Amino acid sequence: MKVGVPTEIKSDEYRVALTPAGVRELVLHEHSVVVQAGAGEGSGIADADYVSQGAEILPDADAVFAAADMIVKVKEPQPVEVARLEPRHTLFTYLHLAPDPELTQGLVASGATCIAYETVEDDRGRLPLLAPMSEVAGKIATQAGAFMLEKPLGGRGILLGGVPGVAAANVMVIGGGVVGMNAAFIAIGMEATVYVYDRNIDRLRELDIAFGGRADTCYASTLDIEKRLPDVDLVIGAVLVHGAKAPYVIRREQLKLMKRGAVIVDVSIDQGGCFETSRPTTHSDPTYEVDGVTHYCVANMPGAVPITSTYALTNATLPYVLHLADAGVERASRENPGLAKGVNVVDGKCTYAPVAEATGQEYTELFDALGAAA
Ligand SMILES: NC(=O)c1ccc[n+]([C@@H]2O[C@H](COP(=O)([O-])OP(=O)(O)OC[C@H]3O[C@@H](n4cnc5c(N)ncnc54)[C@H](O)[C@@H]3O)[C@@H](O)[C@H]2O)c1
Repeated sequence: MKVGVPTEIKSDEYRVALTPAGVRELVLHEHSVVVQAGAGEGSGIADADYVSQGAEILPDADAVFAAADMIVKVKEPQPVEVARLEPRHTLFTYLHLAPDPELTQGLVASGATCIAYETVEDDRGRLPLLAPMSEVAGKIATQAGAFMLEKPLGGRGILLGGVPGVAAANVMVIGGGVVGMNAAFIAIGMEATVYVYDRNIDRLRELDIAFGGRADTCYASTLDIEKRLPDVDLVIGAVLVHGAKAPYVIRREQLKLMKRGAVIVDVSIDQGGCFETSRPTTHSDPTYEVDGVTHYCVANMPGAVPITSTYALTNATLPYVLHLADAGVERASRENPGLAKGVNVVDGKCTYAPVAEATGQEYTELFDALGAAA
């Protein structure tokens, strides 16, 4: 199979979907790899590093899409990339389709097979291709929140960890999964007072043990969240219902309960956002204010630290890339049911139920769609 790696074009995105180590593995499996000139630059990887492992460098994205059977990317395809997709292509990348009916329709219309990193599951129902970026985003969330609390940036002007004789800031994390746990660990490390909310009691049990008494775990009822809002300086939103649009955990009318200059970081923005007042922002212009509360809603937070994120992501994706290249989508999906859960679109049909439901597409069972495409 010929695997193609285009340069990421989303705003302030510096990651790349394959490293030279990935090229080496694919070539050892007798596949070929084409990489767009400069695709690795943002992550400190030169074209020559890819060539030395057997890749061919092509001048632009058009050439990569024309040459390759499988396109591996990082962020969801932008309109110009959707226009390049053909039925013969397999696209493997983050898609986040549930909050984006337009992109879903574009991918359905392309006829391509589109596999979403974020809905691939492991044998325990976890999300192995989301987890590494959630670890990064969780850590950035607290860093960014601490920074935005500084007065010159519009924040309240409170230091997360306080100092002897002056209390620490209160940090509320809603959603105690991978993002939430990592955000909490950084907040604990910065000596803030930390509360982590989730609706999964088994998860709260695990967190309680992991935190060893250094953060409080709380059940995420609407009332209990609301009661805490007047006291908090930083709220990090990190909820996820697999594949679905994020539920709102803070409504517009609840913002007025918060202190002026408090900060909310909506990490769930890639699934539509978990605060009613959230809208996607970029690293170049990361915040806006509603009712005196700073909102930070960058949809590609890990893109800011590509030297970490590219390697964390590709360590996780490479075994799946190899499996897809070796076996093709249908056999790989039969051999690995967790990978099958990643297949969102096949041959003009939506094959992932939560996305079909959220975007108004008709749902087709995956193997029916793959059988029809064969
Ligand atoms: N903005 C970015 O750059 C970026 C990067 C990585 C991940 N993310 C996003 O962050 C979100 C969280 O990812 P994750 O890997 O931590 O997911 P996860 O599945 O590990 O954790 C989500 C947690 O949310 C909890 N939850 C669900 N509904 C809830 C509710 N109503 N109230 C409280 N808790 C609730 C679940 O029980 C679970 O523990 C996802 O939307 C993911 O796509 C964004």
